Amino acid sequence: MAILFSTKQLFSICIILSFMLSFSYGRSPNPAFRIKAVNLGGWLVTEGWIKPSLFDGIPNKDFLDGTQLQFKSVTVGKYLCAENGGGTIVVANRTSASGWETFKLWRINETNFHFRVFNKQFIGLDTNGNGIDIVAKSNTPGSSETFEIVRNSNDLSRVRIKAPNGFFLQAKTEELVTADYEGATSWGDDNPSVFEMTIAGRMQGEFQVTNGYGPQKAPQVMRKHWSTYIVEDDFKFIAGNGLNAVRIPVGWWMASDPTPPAPYVGGSLRALDNAFTWARYAFFPVPSDITISVTTSQDLTIMGGPVHNTPKKYGLKIIIDLHAAPGSQNGFEHSSSRDGSQEWGLTDDNIQQTVAVIDFLTARYARSPSLYAVELINEPLSPGASLESVNKYYKAGYDAVRKHSSTAYVVMSNRLGPMDPRELFPLASGLRGSVIDVHYYNLFSDIFNSMTVQQNIDFVYTNRSAQLNQITTSNGPLTFVGEWVAEWQVSGASKEDLQRFAKAQLEVYGRATFGWAYWTLKNVNNHWSLEWMIKNGYIKL
Ligand SMILES: *[C@@H]1O[C@H](CO)[C@@H](O)[C@H](O)[C@H]1NC(C)=O
Ligand SMILES: *[C@@H]1O[C@H](CO)[C@@H](O)[C@H](O)[C@H]1NC(C)=O
Ligand SMILES: *[C@@H]1O[C@H](CO)[C@@H](O)[C@H](O)[C@H]1NC(C)=O
Repeated sequence: MAILFSTKQLFSICIILSFMLSFSYGRSPNPAFRIKAVNLGGWLVTEGWIKPSLFDGIPNKDFLDGTQLQFKSVTVGKYLCAENGGGTIVVANRTSASGWETFKLWRINETNFHFRVFNKQFIGLDTNGNGIDIVAKSNTPGSSETFEIVRNSNDLSRVRIKAPNGFFLQAKTEELVTADYEGATSWGDDNPSVFEMTIAGRMQGEFQVTNGYGPQKAPQVMRKHWSTYIVEDDFKFIAGNGLNAVRIPVGWWMASDPTPPAPYVGGSLRALDNAFTWARYAFFPVPSDITISVTTSQDLTIMGGPVHNTPKKYGLKIIIDLHAAPGSQNGFEHSSSRDGSQEWGLTDDNIQQTVAVIDFLTARYARSPSLYAVELINEPLSPGASLESVNKYYKAGYDAVRKHSSTAYVVMSNRLGPMDPRELFPLASGLRGSVIDVHYYNLFSDIFNSMTVQQNIDFVYTNRSAQLNQITTSNGPLTFVGEWVAEWQVSGASKEDLQRFAKAQLEVYGRATFGWAYWTLKNVNNHWSLEWMIKNGYIKL
């Protein structure tokens, strides 16, 4: 930034500040202070369901990384299958499709793909055999594993698959799938190279959007998204509506900005810099003759200068949340998994790489008065993310934060999946300023499918209260409901129903000793947008 003002102006800002502080924020630190935050989901880590239009311009956008495809041969009438889930031949003898019959795309460009099977091998030409049999043996896809998908423009569910030898795949028999079809293009039921394709799953995360646009277009698309989706006015809105913090999901690639590994693109770090600037001034009416726009780390250092001591207690607080860790800690699109695989935490190198990301981010923002907490990782999924690797990482991540900041809280997310809600206590209880993050959605479980309005509300008052009590102790870590939403499985609920549901959650989650954060600020699905909920009178803080 250029902070364009003179020492004299700075001095008067300090005076104004201290004046404001002595009235509004002149209290001594309040031990009962609680975070009332909103997540900035879908900003620096893409989630397509939050903002689908971000994917609109991708060519051939049905075929992104992680798209799950199933193929039924029109002549044989059965599904392609990686026998045994992978490691051997590919057949066409299954009457129904599930795991072994599902192929996950790795996108090379808009026409060329690798197909990954259940056991993680890639299908390809059997180069050790006759060169035309299709097998699922390779662990590292190369040119023999690169295929083109050709769609029938009159019926998009009909496809042919062109192998790297230039021929199309065909199901010769139920047990023989080869790449040697030479016939002309026809899309009839008598053509053994034609398959009926089903899209069984899609992913729309950061990997998909950046790789989908490709290296030429992705940088401009993403930078435009970062600079327009969340802007300074959003911080004013947040601060002006009873919230005191933001939780910002970030991705591991940010630590190598401006040149992150492909397909990620640079620039998200600068957007995070902006957030720190906006957060700092969010409560503070800047005199109109002063232009403020911070963009570099040096400027953040400048900001740590003359006015460093005054603004500790005003402005929005920021929780940096490592939402996407290298390898993906849960296999979801929101942790930027490429194809649903979950590989985070499997090796020491991977854990060290993740610690380095935390080290980098904390070092960068430790001097900003807005940095309130660093969340080491979001939602590691059990059993893939073992308690052992999570503990090892949390200890090292905690130390990395403390290397740069003695005051930032260190947030540790409970695992998803099978786990004990107090499993982090042995570690966290011994670490000053540690916080346990839990996410409470009345969704994602069958128990909510048939709940009525009142049952949902009772569940919050009874069951969520009990869950929160179970992890709230006087000398253990603080508790944080880092994600919740006033959305449920009830259809046709009235505005008043949702107001009561939101109120119940605010009341119960308001007892979390660190605080809570709504998921999320903006979303095309109205109930998931706190901005919409506030503007339309559903939630008042
Ligand atoms: C499919 O073909 C393979 C290879 O011959 C065979 O081992 C398998 O049992 C067959 N499966 C079915 C369901 O017919
Ligand atoms: C897509 O990738 C394939 C394989 O690398 C290459 O031969 C082809 O030219 C590429 N097509 C485009 C449109 O970039
Ligand atoms: C909620 O808690 C009540 C009281 O402990 C219990 O009877 C009920 O089974 C719980 N509901 C669910 C869905 O777990």
